[in-house]
Amino acid sequence: MRLPERSLWLTPVISAFPAQMPSRFAIFPLILLAAAVAARAAEPAPRFVGAPGCASAMCHGGGGDLRHQTTIWQKQDIHSRTYNTLVNARSAQIVAALKIPDATTSTRCTSCHAPFHEVPRDLVLNPIDFKTGVACESCHGPAERWLRPHTRTDFSPADRVTAGLRDLRNLYVRANTCVACHQTVDSDIAAAGHPELLFELDGQAVAQPRHWREKGDWHGPRAWFVGQAVALREMSWQLAREKAPDEILRDRWAALLWLLQTGEAAGVTSKALAGIGTEAAPANFTRAQESADKLARDLADAEWSAEATSKLLRQFANTAAAFNDSKLKPAAHARRAERLVLALDRLLTGSDPVALLKAEPHLTRLFQLAQSLPDFDPAAFAKALERLAGSVP
Ligand code: HEC
Ligand code: HEC
Ligand code: HEC
Repeated sequence: MRLPERSLWLTPVISAFPAQMPSRFAIFPLILLAAAVAARAAEPAPRFVGAPGCASAMCHGGGGDLRHQTTIWQKQDIHSRTYNTLVNARSAQIVAALKIPDATTSTRCTSCHAPFHEVPRDLVLNPIDFKTGVACESCHGPAERWLRPHTRTDFSPADRVTAGLRDLRNLYVRANTCVACHQTVDSDIAAAGHPELLFELDGQAVAQPRHWREKGDWHGPRAWFVGQAVALREMSWQLAREKAPDEILRDRWAALLWLLQTGEAAGVTSKALAGIGTEAAPANFTRAQESADKLARDLADAEWSAEATSKLLRQFANTAAAFNDSKLKPAAHARRAERLVLALDRLLTGSDPVALLKAEPHLTRLFQLAQSLPDFDPAAFAKALERLAGSVP
């Protein structure tokens, strides 16, 4: 089954993204996308109604598989508690280092942890308590225009999307939604002690307590691929803007570019990133940003097969030689390893169970070796990788 077409109204804004859009995609986008649609249609932007608008027992606040979304989000999903993090001791340390007076009201923190803090008053129907954290409309889009009609049987999926309900079944749209909060924090926030972010769509989608049933064709490995391409686009965007990007950021970027170029060489996708140098140079950032976006779009629309997964898996499993390259410094190898183990994990999970079982001990070893950045040992990693490759059919 092919995924539904991308919504028309979403396309122009997102295609303008590589050049113009700020990277805080899910937060501003809710506002900017809405405003852009309004500008084209010459009508006011749709407004947010707030999580309580979805939570009546007859709708998404009831019991059973069909109506339990609010319960899952409230009780199990950390997104309903992202605000609380801003009042913990670690946040206090981070903001002290940054000389921000208050994490709970600074855009620098609320943009991801309390996104409703950022929504202007005229874009909400009712006052919304921003302490609700990352709520339904942060991911699904402002509900004003789709709230009432979206349950009508004559309202098609395309109609819903036109009314502003995000097409999260489309992997590209989904990846853009999550990556906005899950890949890039400004260097000074990271230096102040914020955890390093690393976006990986497949694993993180599985880790999010699921309040939906996946219908149709859902291929973890393809989700993984789309997510990594979108992550590279975001990192490239960030680097292109930093005057003096720090070494950590550059190493992480080069590692992801290496990984995706390796993936492309498996021959199951377009080769959008081929030929882009991994040296940290402005021209490479700009090219990578545009090409990674193209790769993500191509993948989200492409057919996928078990054969594609195993080709990709073999390609990654056979990279031991790259870790024996002594021209690359150990820190750069460590960053490659960090992304590679996640790739192997997702591809093996998406392969047949026997393959996973055989590879499991080797994969566990690779995770252990990739764990420690400061004393990463490329040669030991290469050896373990060879053993894993030997177990992959
Ligand atoms: C780009 C989005 C983004 C921004 C901006 C951001 N955070 Fe986070 N923050 C996250 C994500 C995502 C995690 C979860 C990371 C993980 O678990 O891997 C997180 C985790 C944290 C944690 C660790 C979790 C815990 O329970 O202790 C703290 C503390 C934190 N953030 C505080 C802040 C503060 C303070 C600011 C503002 C200076 C801030 N964050 C800005 C996205 C963001
Ligand atoms: C962090 C992002 C996120 C948040 C927050 C979120 N959702 Fe979702 N939701 C998703 C994703 C991803 C899907 C799967 C794709 C799809 O079905 O559209 C989904 C699917 C759904 C579905 C479709 C269920 C199905 O089986 O077809 C409903 C209904 C839904 N969400 C309601 C809610 C409600 C109500 C809330 C707030 C209480 C909420 N969501 C909060 C990301 C989110
Ligand atoms: C508006 C910002 C925002 C969006 C959009 C968002 N998240 Fe998050 N997410 C966060 C923050 C902030 C945290 C950190 C929670 C904390 O510790 O305070 C988090 C935590 C998580 C966690 C648990 C920690 C981890 O990294 O493993 C998972 C899993 C997760 N998000 C998955 C997703 C997925 C999948 C999507 C897209 C469907 C998504 N998120 C969209 C802000 C967001």
